[in-house]
Amino acid sequence: MRPEIRQTDKYPLSWRLLHWLMAVMIVGLLIVGLIMADRAEANIWDDLTNILYAWHKALGFSIIFLLILRILLRRRSGVPAYPSHVSPKLLFIAHQAHTVLYTLMIVVPLLGWAGVTAYPALITIGGYNLPAMPFVPVNEDLAKQIFNIHGWLALALGAVIIAHIAGGLKHLFIDRDGVFQRMW
Ligand code: HEM
Repeated sequence: MRPEIRQTDKYPLSWRLLHWLMAVMIVGLLIVGLIMADRAEANIWDDLTNILYAWHKALGFSIIFLLILRILLRRRSGVPAYPSHVSPKLLFIAHQAHTVLYTLMIVVPLLGWAGVTAYPALITIGGYNLPAMPFVPVNEDLAKQIFNIHGWLALALGAVIIAHIAGGLKHLFIDRDGVFQRMW
């Protein structure tokens, strides 16, 4: 017999909205990033490639502010307690996974911003320019190295997100313990 879904504390609404908004944005950034990098590799520089680059840069830059907001909210409201049956080992793994997730969510967009500053390629949607990242020199070789690391860490972020989704779905469909509902 399946256990009943248990009720636990939820994250505050502002926190849940921010979580799902950022989730959609980051998955979108990963997909758009891969498509545009593929087109650049194939030397296709048409309107679509330019639009993808412009949106990738604008959305990626906005993520930095959403993340700051998210960290402030987390500090202010804290995290609701997990259900008592969740083992300390699982809590430890979840905590480590969240730390890796946050680190990559900070480092990946900052590297993207540093890369477009060094290239320089700050132009985004509507012809607006992003501000240059302070202390980053203009140097195309440096920019290419930064983009290389940006790309690899973005893929690592994608892998951690897949593990994170798998964990969430396990709570929803197998454990049915209310942990997924905390963020829904
Ligand atoms: C969470 C945020 C971000 C994610 C998940 C992300 C993801 C990606 C991915 C998957 C690629 C393709 C890598 C490859 O296959 O070579 C890429 C490339 C790129 N990203 Fe981002 N990105 C983010 C933020 C940013 C930001 C903030 C900027 C700049 C303001 C930026 C600028 C670029 C540029 C210019 C490239 C192309 C590099 C090249 O052509 O070599 N990204 N990004």
